[in-house]
Amino acid sequence: MNKQLITATLQNDILLRAARGEKTERVPVWLMRQAGRVLPEYRAVRKQMGSFKDLLKTPEFACEVTLQPVDILGVDAAIIFSDILVIPEAMGLNYEMIESKGPLFEKTIKNKHDIEALQITQANDLAYVIQAIKLTKRALNNRVPLIGFAGAPWTIFAYMIEGSGSKTFAQAKKFLYTQPEWAHLLLDKITQSTIHYLQAQVAAGVNLLQIFDSWAGILSPQQYTSFSLPYLKRICDAIPQVPITLFAKGAFFARQQLSELNCAVIGLDWNMDIAESRAMIGPDKTLQGNMDPCLLYADYNTIKTETIKMLQQFGGHKHIANLGHGLYPDIEKDKVRCFIDTVKEYKI
Ligand code: CP3
Repeated sequence: MNKQLITATLQNDILLRAARGEKTERVPVWLMRQAGRVLPEYRAVRKQMGSFKDLLKTPEFACEVTLQPVDILGVDAAIIFSDILVIPEAMGLNYEMIESKGPLFEKTIKNKHDIEALQITQANDLAYVIQAIKLTKRALNNRVPLIGFAGAPWTIFAYMIEGSGSKTFAQAKKFLYTQPEWAHLLLDKITQSTIHYLQAQVAAGVNLLQIFDSWAGILSPQQYTSFSLPYLKRICDAIPQVPITLFAKGAFFARQQLSELNCAVIGLDWNMDIAESRAMIGPDKTLQGNMDPCLLYADYNTIKTETIKMLQQFGGHKHIANLGHGLYPDIEKDKVRCFIDTVKEYKI
């Protein structure tokens, strides 16, 4: 069966229709980090596997945790269980995920020589992710679409230079100011790798792609224009087959420029005013978001009323409901369900 036919026979394709800008009978919903520690069922599989990376690299288990939020939470899409850091690893930088701390790279990029030593990822280098996508497509049995993803080149660059998470990513920004030429060389290599990787995801059957520019908000508007947007543009132009969502966390200053790219959906975080975003982005793109994840610490009534307010502000069409960033691991599963059920019951 070819890709078009698979898409055509999805039992629930409401998220894809909204991404394409079509009118839908209700607002579709999924959550960033929906597969993860918020689910006891995830924690059980994770415990069995030992480490996060072992889980990531075992397609059968990656498939199992990808399906969990579809079965348990009733979301309108699955997102393949993986991580944005598989790209730096495939390019030659190994990392470990340190419990309750986050990623730590063995080596970081310091100069031109380090950049030249990096490989460009080829389509079959991340075979374990591709295998997980194929297994998941089969197991989903066309119930809901499957979302593939990658980090934006700037965000991947930031981890490669810094070697871990950081509040300021000062080392990565220093590199932009002191070695701009080499910064562009590295961003180019990451972009080529990312395009190969995303094309392989599409060939394996993902229905939609999301690009996470998690550290967009630490750049100045000028730096964003120079060091992030051109690379996002290259990715969007290289993959016309499926709708692409660009989620540039904190890049309120770049909303208008993002709207000029070849993407179907723009993700908003909770700092971005909804009406202002629509005015800046124009009527064409679908918007995704943008509830503050901390709302889900509130009582059920507050969750319901605030979610309905958000839905009203988006206006019911060209909207995919989501949080403004990923779910926090200590949120109660029933509160997550409350958010999802409120969206699904809302009459446009
Ligand atoms: O459900 C999903 O959204 C799919 C899976 C997914 C993960 N990471 C799994 C994960 C996705 C889409 C990501 C993307 C990702 N990874 C981003 C972009 C989104 C964002 O949050 O801004 C970033 C910056 C990363 C890098 C990363 N991975 C960090 C900084 C951390 C440590 C922080 C943390 O939450 O522990 C991770 C680990 C990670 N990635 C976990 C999961 C479920 C937690 C691992 C565990 O202990 O089980």
